[in-house]
Amino acid sequence: MTEAGSVTSALSALIRTQVERAGGWLPFDRYMALALYAPGLGYYANASRKFGPLPSSGSDFVTAPELTPLFGRALARQVEQALRVSGTREVWEFGAGSGALAGQLLEALGDQVERYTIVDLSRSLRERQRERLAPHGAKVRWALELPERMRGVIVGNEVLDAMPVKLLHRVGGRWHERGVVVSALEFAFEDRPTELRPPAEIEGPHDYLTEVHPQAQAFVRTIADRLQAGAAFLLDYGFPESEYYHPQRHMGTLMCHRGHLADVDPLEDTGTKDITAHVDFTGIAVAAQEAGLNVLGYTSQAHFLFNCGLLDLAADAPPEQHAAMQKLVNEHEMGELFKVIGLARGGFWDALGFARGDRTERL
Ligand SMILES: C[S@@+](CC[C@H](N)C(=O)[O-])C[C@H]1O[C@@H](n2cnc3c(N)ncnc32)[C@H](O)[C@@H]1O
Repeated sequence: MTEAGSVTSALSALIRTQVERAGGWLPFDRYMALALYAPGLGYYANASRKFGPLPSSGSDFVTAPELTPLFGRALARQVEQALRVSGTREVWEFGAGSGALAGQLLEALGDQVERYTIVDLSRSLRERQRERLAPHGAKVRWALELPERMRGVIVGNEVLDAMPVKLLHRVGGRWHERGVVVSALEFAFEDRPTELRPPAEIEGPHDYLTEVHPQAQAFVRTIADRLQAGAAFLLDYGFPESEYYHPQRHMGTLMCHRGHLADVDPLEDTGTKDITAHVDFTGIAVAAQEAGLNVLGYTSQAHFLFNCGLLDLAADAPPEQHAAMQKLVNEHEMGELFKVIGLARGGFWDALGFARGDRTERL
């Protein structure tokens, strides 16, 4: 049996036990949490490579900081402004993956950052980050839990999409929650009637599968409750509510990634592929506002990076960086699907990244 196969079967056995303990039906968000984060076994907890530009490296998908350091250098300009405005000297990164973005920010920000704290659920990734960021010494630290009070600038790239979602399925006009059962030793979906509803009315009588994001919203409420001074910049693929819950988006956004290929079956080969859902940015903005943060802006990744001076930075970069930069901002690649939301404690200020093309009114 291959290593991946043995990890998968140990993880599958663990999830089967959890399904049995839950009475034979596990809500999808609990399945997703185990598939991704079960200690030592889940996709993000096991030793597979995950991030990288090409499948030949054994990676499954590429993220912006893995593509080019220009991403982190541009984001650093926004972080720099937020540190200055809030009078803080700390950066907090959630879900730091391989540590690529942390390295880029630390290099670009230099002495402006006194302490860089990483919070990541995955122990194996924390080890990778430690190795990669060793040259930055004691300035970088890892926190397993958030302190009661935080000050500084929070960043998170593609972390919200990795948080477990609940699946809701309207069938014959009735809403159901989708869960996981074990059938003939395989995982299968089973829908049960529910009182849960998507945050927006879905027009039309057709069957409709979608996601809701209680964990991502709870995460934003927690950082909002604890952030005493500072700001947060969260970057990810997603839409405002009106697009997310559009009647035509009747298959939802749940997606798996392995070997740079996408598929829609999270129940197959559990633990060997990433499972993600797009972000409902309206839900994120509302959760943040209800917990006392202001929305500084919301825009596409392309607008945000251009506003942060990506083109100037690219002019000084070697030519091989230029193709990667195009991927960050190209409308058909990451430029339009990926969005950035900026949140802040205290008053509003004109954040650099939203200077042109702000779409807060669409949330
Ligand atoms: C898709 S990866 C993105 C990694 C990295 N930010 C990048 O852009 O390459 C998601 C990351 O979020 C982490 N993660 C997921 N949920 C988290 C949570 N609630 N708190 C902290 N980290 C989390 C995962 O362990 C993983 O490192």
